[in-house]
Amino acid sequence: MNQDELKKAVAKAALDYVQPGTIVGVGTGSTANYFIDYLAEIKHRIEGTVASSEASAERLRAHGIPVFDLNEVDGVAVYVDGADETTIHRHLIKGGGGALTREKVVAAVARKFVCIADQTKLVDVLGAFPLPLEVIPMARSYIAREMVKLGGRPEWRQGFVTDNGNHILDVHNLKILDPVAMESELNQYAGMVTVGIFARRPADVLLLGTEDGVKTI
Ligand code: A5P
Repeated sequence: MNQDELKKAVAKAALDYVQPGTIVGVGTGSTANYFIDYLAEIKHRIEGTVASSEASAERLRAHGIPVFDLNEVDGVAVYVDGADETTIHRHLIKGGGGALTREKVVAAVARKFVCIADQTKLVDVLGAFPLPLEVIPMARSYIAREMVKLGGRPEWRQGFVTDNGNHILDVHNLKILDPVAMESELNQYAGMVTVGIFARRPADVLLLGTEDGVKTI
């Protein structure tokens, strides 16, 4: 199976976590897009969705799936989203698509967070994938200098503005041995909006697409 087929397999497997009559949180990226396409097949069974990006909201609406503002709903039964990296402990790096802030908010609200990823995303230690940080524009250089002090090599994702009007720094060379501690530490910088480590609220379930089928971790 190629990577796309593995993504499709985990996206389909995530349908098992969708409960009838509930609000489904929907993530962002190519794996989440496959999930949206499968969700369309059972759209009559759910109340609707909340989306972690404008792009996902648009794709959901194109399928005729209702999209609600998070403030309008009582809760989110399950949140299904991809990741850029994951450990076996379901600590993640997210934000490759730049939607990390809304992703973290929906993950925080969701009663269950199901991460869908192909086997190429599984790592022993987070950090080979450059860590995305969403920062308010005026804090960009300050936070970049602070990341250099930590041994990182920050790169400004030039020309990219998040759905919230902010900038992204992609920080290379970080070896994230203690994801919970590093997420907490980086959260403290003035002007930091969202750190792309999802460890304080990890995924509850990881559906990993492998050559031997979908593994549930
Ligand atoms: C979006 O901001 C990211 O967190 C995505 O979840 C991540 O980039 C995974 O994307 P793919 O499914 O396209 O690999």
